[in-house]
Amino acid sequence: MFGKFGKYHPDAIRLNASRFDLVLALRQDFEFVCAQDRGAHAMQFCSGPASWILTSDRERIRYIAVNLLQNACKYSPPASVIRVELQADDRAACLRVSDEGIGIPAAEIAELFSPFYRASNAGDRPGTGMGLAVVKESAQVVGAKIGIDSRADRGTTFTVTLARTPER
Ligand SMILES: Nc1ncnc2c1ncn2[C@@H]1O[C@H](COP(=O)(O)OP(=O)(O)OP(=O)(O)O)[C@@H](O)[C@H]1O
Ligand SMILES: [Mg+2]
Repeated sequence: MFGKFGKYHPDAIRLNASRFDLVLALRQDFEFVCAQDRGAHAMQFCSGPASWILTSDRERIRYIAVNLLQNACKYSPPASVIRVELQADDRAACLRVSDEGIGIPAAEIAELFSPFYRASNAGDRPGTGMGLAVVKESAQVVGAKIGIDSRADRGTTFTVTLARTPER
């Protein structure tokens, strides 16, 4: 597929774009993970805007939100707070998924998005190490930037920044 200036954009092929409400979409993904969590954590959802319409790939947004939330549940103790927060202005939205869990050792953060990588403190929690590889790939397709702020034994916040319209 060719973009505005005739450049080849492999991602454009993989982006299944539609217009949808990000707040509603994230709320659905949040509810999905809450149901899986069965009340084990104190799950909080907080959005600045009541609705925020964007053009993006709904499935990819789902992969990102669900994987980050499932990780937050898996790597944090029962009854701790898991918070989804959305802030947005005219042009971009910022999603934060925070937990009060085991955190990620600083030296391992660079490896985290590699397929099959699991941090040394993951212990006997089940997992394949593929969730964040899917998050990374999906973020590339929708043009989102992912940030991590984590402290061992204190908790982790993943930040996803997303433009309202994909840059092409
Ligand atoms: N919120 C978090 N808190 C602490 N560690 C985390 C968190 N999210 C990810 N990690 C670490 O990053 C590793 C990679 O995460 P990823 O989601 O890719 O794999 P996974 O959860 O082990 O398995 P799965 O493929 O089932 O998602 C995890 O094994 C864990 O060590
Ligand atoms: Mg995972």
